[in-house]
Amino acid sequence: MNRTDILQRLRAVRPIIAPSMLKCDFGNLACEVERLTAANAKVLHWDVMDGHFVPNLSYGPMVIERVRPLTQLIFDAHLMISEPDRFLDEYLNAGCEAITVHIEAVPQPTLLLRRIRDAGRVAGLALNPQTPLSAVEPFFAEIDLLLVMSVQAGFGGQSFIPMSIEKLHAARKLISSETILSVDGGIGTKTIAGCAAAGTDLFVAGSAIFDQSDYECAVDELGRLAGR
Ligand code: DX5
Ligand code: ZN
Repeated sequence: MNRTDILQRLRAVRPIIAPSMLKCDFGNLACEVERLTAANAKVLHWDVMDGHFVPNLSYGPMVIERVRPLTQLIFDAHLMISEPDRFLDEYLNAGCEAITVHIEAVPQPTLLLRRIRDAGRVAGLALNPQTPLSAVEPFFAEIDLLLVMSVQAGFGGQSFIPMSIEKLHAARKLISSETILSVDGGIGTKTIAGCAAAGTDLFVAGSAIFDQSDYECAVDELGRLAGR
């Protein structure tokens, strides 16, 4: 699958509900992946934290690589790490179809984004709530996905920041219609519809899925509220 195929596959399943693996039961990772696949999730969102760019530490490419053969779902890696250029090859080799880096970690991301695209993957750029859209705007031609953080990156289970809706609206107007607009943080039944109305394509959800006993029901309900 090349970059165009990945983007086509993503567009075909909009609105995309992407479970955030940060919230899964790591003692039963294979079982969780099986349950999410059966629940009709189309994308798994991998939150990579380095204890430096963000205070938390999560998992790295070795874990993602081991899960890769267990499912056909698209892997969306969200790198909350200080020097993504040093580790990019590992995430490419682990089989991530989409790789997103933070503008706050890489203020000049052009070369890095090109490396992701040249490897045939979807290149994403993320920005934290405090970072204005003007910081990422110069790189819109280099990205396939824009990730608007609706909480400060670093922890699952935080409350959605309402101002994110305006940011999503503004972002949707500025980016190409081909670019996937993604939102991450505090997404659930109360917040997803507003984000959908602002033109969001991909919704990362941790607590809203993993705190439910029936993942299929949770994914289905979020998809319905996002206007599927
Ligand atoms: C935050 C992560 C999110 C988070 C989402 O740094 O990027 O993906 O785990 O979790 P919820 O949906 O619980 O806010
Ligand atoms: Zn994330």
